Amino acid sequence: MKFTVNTPGATRQRTACAIVGIYADGTLSDTAKALDKASGGLISDVTRNRDIRGEAGETLLLTHTGKLPCKRILLVGLGKPGKLEQRGYRQAMRAACTALGKAGHIDAINYLGLETVGDTDAYRKARIAVETWHEASYRFTTMKSAPTPQPGRLKSMGLACTTADRKKSLEGVKHATAIAGGVALARDLGNLPPNICTPDYLVKRAQAIARKSKKMRLNALRAADLRKLGMGALLAVTQGSELPPRFIVLQYRGGTPKSQPVVLVGKGITFDSGGISIKPGPAMDEMKYDMCGAASVLGVLQAAAELNLRVNLVGIVPACENMPSGTATRPGDIVRSLSGQTVEILNTDAEGRLILCDALTYAQRFKPSVIIDIATLTGACLIALGRVRSGLLSNSDELATALLEAGQNAGDRAWRLPLDEEYGELLKSPFADVANIGGRDAGTITAAAFLSRFVGKTSWAHLDIAGTAWVQGNNKGGTGRPVPLLMEYLLQGA
Ligand code: BES
Ligand code: MN
Ligand code: ZN
Repeated sequence: MKFTVNTPGATRQRTACAIVGIYADGTLSDTAKALDKASGGLISDVTRNRDIRGEAGETLLLTHTGKLPCKRILLVGLGKPGKLEQRGYRQAMRAACTALGKAGHIDAINYLGLETVGDTDAYRKARIAVETWHEASYRFTTMKSAPTPQPGRLKSMGLACTTADRKKSLEGVKHATAIAGGVALARDLGNLPPNICTPDYLVKRAQAIARKSKKMRLNALRAADLRKLGMGALLAVTQGSELPPRFIVLQYRGGTPKSQPVVLVGKGITFDSGGISIKPGPAMDEMKYDMCGAASVLGVLQAAAELNLRVNLVGIVPACENMPSGTATRPGDIVRSLSGQTVEILNTDAEGRLILCDALTYAQRFKPSVIIDIATLTGACLIALGRVRSGLLSNSDELATALLEAGQNAGDRAWRLPLDEEYGELLKSPFADVANIGGRDAGTITAAAFLSRFVGKTSWAHLDIAGTAWVQGNNKGGTGRPVPLLMEYLLQGA
């Protein structure tokens, strides 16, 4: 798919399809007005007949355009005039892309970018158009024996913008293309089955990313290395599995040699059965998505390198399976983490925090400016925030604010939960330094409180993506979140 940036002129520009906005109650956008006039009332005809009312997200394809240079017009509802905000704009763009994705035409010019959208400049509009197209046209077909034919044939889309906005729009296209690539990588890794997407497989994909940039270096530790280091918590999780664990360290050096890196840590449980504290059967297949934190870290590293961001980044992925077996860890086992703290494993299904705590301790050796971990960590996060916002917990107001703002701007929103010391007291163990669960109350917060014990004084944030990393139902699949949030944070200048 090729995106170009065009200066407008809908009544002159040839295209297979012009994408044009109309507002609720039949108000036409300027582009719609111009086409309406040139065609002798083609658009006002259908709005008068109420074939389309103009609500945000409605679409209608007009195929008889007479002498107009556009063969078709895709009318897209934008809601109440004067009230269009970023969320409605995304919604309208998604509807337009979905309609186009199924259509047979080869090219299109998208005039929606000429509309006034609250709090949204030309850069952002271009980004939304490109990211939404990729999001809507994504299909995961690699596991089908006969590849399903792509329904649509769209090969290129022109984005209309004013001459003054050209540069900003081009930059938006560039950023969005890289981000969409990172999102697609994260979605693919999530969607792959757990018999293929194993810890070794994640290493292979990390190698492929590292090979694409001279500024990248990969180090993938094995079980023996982890034993030598003393990662007793991670090793406890993996010990029930036949698959060897891997510990991925993918470094990107885009900043000055002395600038401290941003360290991203992604939970990489390639399948979470729960272990001896085994999960119930229904929807257990979805625990293949328990490596979506890891997938988002790889997606961000790929996108950051592609854009040549001037930042030092370290992606850390502890990867293993959580399985029940005769060698599996038991409820009651006490292990020694890399930090030296001992952990009583009361529930083997609270395994994410066990692999993450050793990864967070390891992360300190890079003297990071900030550490951000990303994990499908708690079912409780789904109960608290549903599937709309990711959970955010942090020991730094500054970092939390920056991440919340990044999520808002990127349309990949998060919500902060508190982390008072009292929550940590729920993790007391009579036998070890800390227990790995804190009871039914505040499950997302006690999980984060556990992690906070392993970050020392470093500014740290934790994103719980249990509700946002994949969707269920008809469109079941990985979302690639929170790659957009994290890229926005890095683009803001970390
Ligand atoms: N990977 C799960 C969390 C999860 C569950 C994510 C459902 C998305 C959907 C995690 O390892 C887990 O099992 N957490 C337990 C923790 C509990 C034992 C304290 C949970 O949430 O039930
Ligand atoms: Mn679990
Ligand atoms: Zn898990």
